[in-house]
Order: sequence, then C-alpha cells, then structure tokens
Amino acid sequence: MLVDKGNHRHFMAKEIEEQPEVIGHTLAEYVDFAEGTVRVPEKLPFDFAALDRITITACGTASYAGLTAKYWFERIARLPTEVDIASEFRYREAPLPKNGLAIVVSQSGETADTLAALRYCKQQGQHTLAIVNVPESTIARESEMVFRTYAGPEIGVASTKAFTCQLTALACLAILAGKLRGTLTLEQERELVSALIMAPRQMTEILKEEKHIADVAREIANARDVLFLGRGLNYPIALEGALKLKEISYIHAEGYAAGELKHGPIALIDENVPVIVIAPHDELYDKTISNMEEVAARGGKIVLLTDDHGMTDNEHKAFRSIRVPKAHPFVSPLLYAVPVQLLAYHAAVFIGTDVDQPRNLAKSVTVE
Ligand code: G6P
Repeated sequence: MLVDKGNHRHFMAKEIEEQPEVIGHTLAEYVDFAEGTVRVPEKLPFDFAALDRITITACGTASYAGLTAKYWFERIARLPTEVDIASEFRYREAPLPKNGLAIVVSQSGETADTLAALRYCKQQGQHTLAIVNVPESTIARESEMVFRTYAGPEIGVASTKAFTCQLTALACLAILAGKLRGTLTLEQERELVSALIMAPRQMTEILKEEKHIADVAREIANARDVLFLGRGLNYPIALEGALKLKEISYIHAEGYAAGELKHGPIALIDENVPVIVIAPHDELYDKTISNMEEVAARGGKIVLLTDDHGMTDNEHKAFRSIRVPKAHPFVSPLLYAVPVQLLAYHAAVFIGTDVDQPRNLAKSVTVE
C-alpha cells in the first residue's frame, strides 16, 4: 500500500493529526453507538467471569498502553492485572494462574520479545488475546483472540496513532470485561462509552492548540533533562511522553509517578529542568498539584497540562500551561497523549533531528 505524507512535513505529524479519525474507526468496531454500549463478540473463547488474572506483555510504547489498561481492568472489571515488558517477562519463568488471560499489545505484531512472551503464556495454559494493528501478523495468527486496532499503516518510527488506538481498544475491552463480570451497571457502562465517543472530538480541540504547544516545545528544546510527572491513569502517559521526547529529539527525559518525586528525582530539579506535569482534574488532582508546588519551590520550570483552567491560580504557578478539554477521567490518557506527542514532535523539529527515522531505532524489532 502506498502511503504518503500528504501536505505534512513528516509522517509523524500526519499520524498525530489522524488520531481523531482512526480512533473513531477503532471505536466503530467495538462500540454499539445506537445503544451506547460495547459490543459483545459472538464467540468468546473464554469466560471473562471465570478469569482470575490478566497478564499483559508488550515492548516500548505498546507496554505503556498495557500499563494504562492495568488501571482500567482493575478498577472497572475488578480483575488483578500484571504488566511486564516482554523482554523481562519471557525469561522470568513467571508462574501463571489456571484461569489467566494473557494480553499482548503490539502495533506490528512481529516484535520478537512480545511473540516469545505470547508463546510462553500459551505453553502455560493461558488464554491469549492480542491487540494488534497488523491483522496478518504472526502475533495475531498465534493468538486465540484478536482485538484489532484500526490505526492504518504507521510509518513514523515513534508510535503515535497506534498507541492511542491501542488505548481505545483496551478501554473497550476493559468495559466488556466489567460488563461480563457484572462489576459495571448498564448506566456505568453507558457513561464510560459516552466518554469514549466524545474523545475524538476532544482530541481535535487539542490539535487546534498545536501552535501554542510548538511554542512551548521550543522553550524546552534547549534543556538537557526533562521530567514528566503523572499519577494513576496518567502515570503511563508520563512514561510515554518521556519516551517520545528522547526517541526523536535525543533530549534526556524521564517519566515518573508524581508521588515518587520525593524519592529521588526531586534532586535533579533546578531552573534548567523543565517538568511536564500531567494534571487532569480527577480525584488525584490535588496530590499532583502539591507535587507541582514542590517542583516550583525548587525553581523547576513547570509546564502544566490540565483541564482546570480559569478556576484556580495553579496555571499561574506554572512557567507555561497547555489546556486540555474537560473530559471524563476514564479517557484522560487518550487526550493527554496528544500534547506530549506534539511537545516531542515540535522539540525535535526545532532541534532538526530526523523525526521519522530517529538514529539507532527501528520501527519493528524482530530480532532479540
Ligand atoms: C520499536 C518501535 C516502538 C514500538 C516498539 C514495540 O521499539 O520503535 O515505537 O513501541 O518497537 O513495537 P510493536 O510493533 O510491538 O508495538
């Protein structure tokens, strides 16, 4: 299939912009829009109600989609969920429970470590489900069940639209699990589904802020180190934001759970360290803001990503702020993924690195 950049400078820019559309396509597969519920697949090879545990394995960006899903599965479906990077998991000889479901997440469906983790789980008698973007891939073929993402071909080495489509498919799967396990009422299911349906439009709103985000990116592009902080569902987005920035701009970046700040990373803070704080107005908001204040007290340059605008003076404490539309906390990872992608993209463009083909990286790692 011939894929071109259209009128974009890079594939990555095009792929970031495509997200509202491809998330819509992914939702169309898993959601019954008329009913406002998730679709129940005709044939499920296992009984969600009988599962004791989920084990998720993946590499890179896909592993952060998996880590986000842990929060969803545990909260919504009351299912204990373990997440591990495939290169560790495959050699760990992890004991797995009798009624376990192994989920592997992979854009390409060909990553060697993820495939090995899938095979190990099968040998251990786990049910298997793959979240993949390439339906004819090895991982898709070897899994009992496939939840496809509909991101379309992703060319930029740094994953963007595949990631948010993975989040979308996993969110639908978590709702399905909650529904079939009886941990969600119909009303709660509809509330979560309606939040998902609104996400593409809200992402479009964020994309309209691109110029402002590019200005902020230029202001952090000279930093040697950048920290990303988030809590709960947005902790994995902090990890993903840091990964994106280091992959394409070569700026050293670390993502941290905001509550871990005082256990180490706070030692790095001075006026030269930009700290990207992901703070949707959810139940952990006050905690994250108090972490932000600890950074501010040490002169750190805060970039606040929040939907809490105009209500408090938190925005004034920040060096810069980026406004994200108000949304149900359940979908916040989908939304906050976009500004962290744009920050990385514009920092890299400003620095002049090869955005679509960053040095030393491959789109798909099919060897160990
Ligand atoms: C490579 C890519 C990453 C990707 C990871 C996992 O490192 O550069 O963008 O997240 O592989 O790939 P997969 O195809 O399994 O999602």
